[in-house]
Amino acid sequence: MKKINFSAGPSILPQEVFEQASQAVLDFNGTGLSLLEISHRSKEFGEVLDEAHELVRELLHLPEGYHPIFLTGGASSQFFMLAMNLLARGSSAAYVDTGTWSSKSIKEARRFGIIDVVASSASEGYTFIPTDYTWRGELSYRYMHITSNNTIYGTQYHKWPEVDMPLVVDMSSDIFSRPLDDAIDKMGLIYAGAQKNMGPAGVTLVIVREDMLRHREGELPTMLDYRTHIAKKSAYNTPPVFPIYVSMLTMRWVKAQGGLEAMEKRNSAKAKVLYDVIDNSNLFKGVARKKDRSLMNVTFTLKDKELEKPFLDFCTENNCVGIKGHRSVGGFRASIYNAMSLEGVQLLAELMRDFERRV
Ligand SMILES: Cc1ncc(COP(=O)(O)O)c(C=O)c1O
Repeated sequence: MKKINFSAGPSILPQEVFEQASQAVLDFNGTGLSLLEISHRSKEFGEVLDEAHELVRELLHLPEGYHPIFLTGGASSQFFMLAMNLLARGSSAAYVDTGTWSSKSIKEARRFGIIDVVASSASEGYTFIPTDYTWRGELSYRYMHITSNNTIYGTQYHKWPEVDMPLVVDMSSDIFSRPLDDAIDKMGLIYAGAQKNMGPAGVTLVIVREDMLRHREGELPTMLDYRTHIAKKSAYNTPPVFPIYVSMLTMRWVKAQGGLEAMEKRNSAKAKVLYDVIDNSNLFKGVARKKDRSLMNVTFTLKDKELEKPFLDFCTENNCVGIKGHRSVGGFRASIYNAMSLEGVQLLAELMRDFERRV
């Protein structure tokens, strides 16, 4: 029996994507070959790659000058790669510290420039999105880096910062979950590991705005230079063919569902179901401040810690898995990315209410 999986990532993908991907491993589009054995330079894979780039453009309404590329090394490699590509020696960037992933991006970027943490919610356990920025007048910031959705704490930006510099955004856990609308013009670079809302682990989407690269001085190793991958349309070397293919299928699915507007509607409705249970409960307590709550990762604890294990067991017995909170925060986290159905969320909500009635 298929379980309802609330795992934070790798996480569920649409069932039809699992089925199409399985078929492609056996016989890719009637070629008599597995997708896994065809050349990445073949016409067949070339079409996949083209469609994947095109779908990113379409779904996010990317204007001219924005280049989607598919890379390897996870979002974690972007922590240093973006700084290498965007910062000239001695230049500076503003970073907002909203948790583990932004802290890691700060640590890595510091190897390549002056990194100023202009706001942080560390002192309050990363339970909110800080918006009071402290600027250092002597610095001329190239960009501001934010993590749009904080997978571990369950916080999310619902309003993009109003600052006079390009935003560099880690969207690993909320890419394609909502439209960017005009906000795209604020974005100098977007990156996202695939394994939450986009596809399987193994590929990272990076979207680079051309002008962001103009400050670069000197040579970078070929593979670490965004220009290499932009020029070769993500096929300078052998790209991760299977993760790109599955990501392409997932993007097709998103498009068929009505695109990012439809995703946002669906995601808001799903999140509301769980937050309503939390807000009306004497047992469950939300982790994140209400105004910054994530539509992707719903984090909560139990007021009585002793009941945590029984609750987890109760969920497992009822087919719901993957809700244990991140080891650094504890409690619970229900990840309800695009592919999670409203019915799946309603089942978890019912289990929460049922558990509370029983104890
Ligand atoms: C917001 C965010 N950024 C970065 C990462 C790191 O991604 P990767 O494991 O692809 O390096 C994660 C992983 O969960 C994440 O949630």
